Amino acid sequence: MSVFGTRPEAIKMCPLVKELEANSNIESIVCLTGQHREMLQQVIDIFDTKVDYNLDIMRPRQTLTTITADVLMKLEEVLKKVQPDIVLVHGDTTTSFVAALAAFYQQIPVGHVEAGLRTFDKYSPFPEEMNRCLTGRIAELHFSPTENNRRNLEREAVVKNVFVTGNTVIDAFKTTVRQDYQYKNEQLRNENMDGRRVVLVTAHRRENLGEPLENICRAIRELSQEFPDLLFIYPMHLNPAVRETARGILGDCAGVRLIEPLDVEDMHNLMSRSFLVMTDSGGLQEEAPACGVPVLVLRTETERPEAVEAGTVKVVGVKTSDIVKEAEKLITSEEDYQKMAHAVNPYGDGHASERIAKHLLDWYSEKMS
Ligand code: UD1
Ligand code: UDP
Repeated sequence: MSVFGTRPEAIKMCPLVKELEANSNIESIVCLTGQHREMLQQVIDIFDTKVDYNLDIMRPRQTLTTITADVLMKLEEVLKKVQPDIVLVHGDTTTSFVAALAAFYQQIPVGHVEAGLRTFDKYSPFPEEMNRCLTGRIAELHFSPTENNRRNLEREAVVKNVFVTGNTVIDAFKTTVRQDYQYKNEQLRNENMDGRRVVLVTAHRRENLGEPLENICRAIRELSQEFPDLLFIYPMHLNPAVRETARGILGDCAGVRLIEPLDVEDMHNLMSRSFLVMTDSGGLQEEAPACGVPVLVLRTETERPEAVEAGTVKVVGVKTSDIVKEAEKLITSEEDYQKMAHAVNPYGDGHASERIAKHLLDWYSEKMS
């Protein structure tokens, strides 16, 4: 049983679900927690994923406590009814951790997809760092995207059943990006982007809400005034706390488009045609390097050092002046830009889901023998 509940988990789990469904030796069941609603449904629709259960727990301005309590209570019923051989969770959300905990309470083994990412700072990203550490403690099988992630687990003495598989986000990316792609989003379709450099912005992280997000938005505002030829496109997360800040600071900026969340096909195609990505998202740090678009990370750390080491991602923090300075360099210096604008893809070959399915079957056969 695959359990997930937010947009990024869905983008990275749907390719795996497809792979499990296609395998006649596996009965695949999908249980959504519904931690997200509209943003999750967008992904489910694109990948045409069959959903068996939806706990539908989302509330406006939900807290970590309400998500935790609701998922734990509601998932228990489903687990008792279905009694799966294994529960698969993804990454570092509260859905992931609590689903792992709920499975543990039923003594059902857990497989952790995207295992072993670490910043080693308990409070950053918050609560994701602790969510993935705790999920890793509970999990029996660990599917790590990179060798570096495997080593992180080794440092915690987790060495059994750890498999380096690549990241399923690359599996997803391969199915969405097309040369002749036409946007579904009306604003994107009507925007004349010919010859215009597009800067794709996303920011939503909990630890950035409030002052850091205000600083980020001020930086975008300054940059758009300094470089009126650039087009900044910010698909806003549905969190009201994000939208209030973004609209308050950027609402009247001529060069900034504040738009609704894009579906994943529009998003991936827009990203691949962008000049620059500025983001605090995890997934974008994996996707943009794969298409040769430089990324400025609007955070103080990253659990994804692979593309930083390869030189296409730079962590710039959340101070307005630092963000402006680093973006200015890329906008004004062809040399600086070219240094960052080469395609690197440390996250796999697009076959991660196949490998995970194979390891699951091997593990099951061994268990049964
Ligand atoms: C969650 C994850 C974060 C992940 C992010 C991806 C946790 C603690 N956080 O954070 O790791 O990076 O998802 O986007 O698990 N909302 C809607 N409709 C939606 C989705 C959200 O209206 O489809 C609004 C609701 O008011 C909700 C709020 O956004 O209460 C916050 O959602 P929540 O899942 O709590 O936090 P995220 O910041 O999305
Ligand atoms: N994404 C999307 N539409 C948007 C913004 C993001 O489809 O409007 C995709 C993005 O390409 C990536 C994933 O959602 O695959 C990242 O999700 P998010 O930023 O919500 O979470 P994070 O990666 O920070 O956990």
